[in-house]
Amino acid sequence: MIQELINGGFEHIEKEIRQCANCSLHEGATNPVIMKGSRDPKVLFIGEAPGKTEDMTGIPFSGRAGKKLDEMIEYMDLSDKDYAVINVLKCRPPNNRKPRKTEVEQCKPFLMAQIEFLDPKVIILLGNTADEAFWGRKNMQWGVPVVDEDGRNILKIYHPAAMIYQRSRIEEQKELIDKNRNLWE
Ligand code: URA
Repeated sequence: MIQELINGGFEHIEKEIRQCANCSLHEGATNPVIMKGSRDPKVLFIGEAPGKTEDMTGIPFSGRAGKKLDEMIEYMDLSDKDYAVINVLKCRPPNNRKPRKTEVEQCKPFLMAQIEFLDPKVIILLGNTADEAFWGRKNMQWGVPVVDEDGRNILKIYHPAAMIYQRSRIEEQKELIDKNRNLWE
């Protein structure tokens, strides 16, 4: 399925996401949330799932957590053409609950097809949900990069929402970014 999605091009992946009824989350979703940013990114950020604002706009990280992500991206010195942003789940879970394992599995072909299609040099997993979805289990240490079998650098840092609830995380996040600048510079 992943290869078939990639072969069809980005519009095909997008159409399949819009038509998806693999799990029940589409029933409560206003819009599926597909991606934002460059289609030829050096860095791909992977978040968890759309929240209320994203569900309304159809754009990932367009609410409060998005402001924090924008600040992070600025701190990383990335320009618009350098990055893209996607989520593990494309539809909003009710009341922003954590994605269920079955939902992650059912949405995973879209995630993997997006990664293949966008073909980034670096993947930044924003928090544990992205870590577990990408590897199939929790696999990474915060701020310690790993090279995957496709030769991509994979890095896990804090989810931007953690910067809202725990202000001490802002400095810690900056340290994780500073230690890893060589991956994207
Ligand atoms: N949190 C996420 O993980 N993704 C979004 O798009 C918004 C908030």
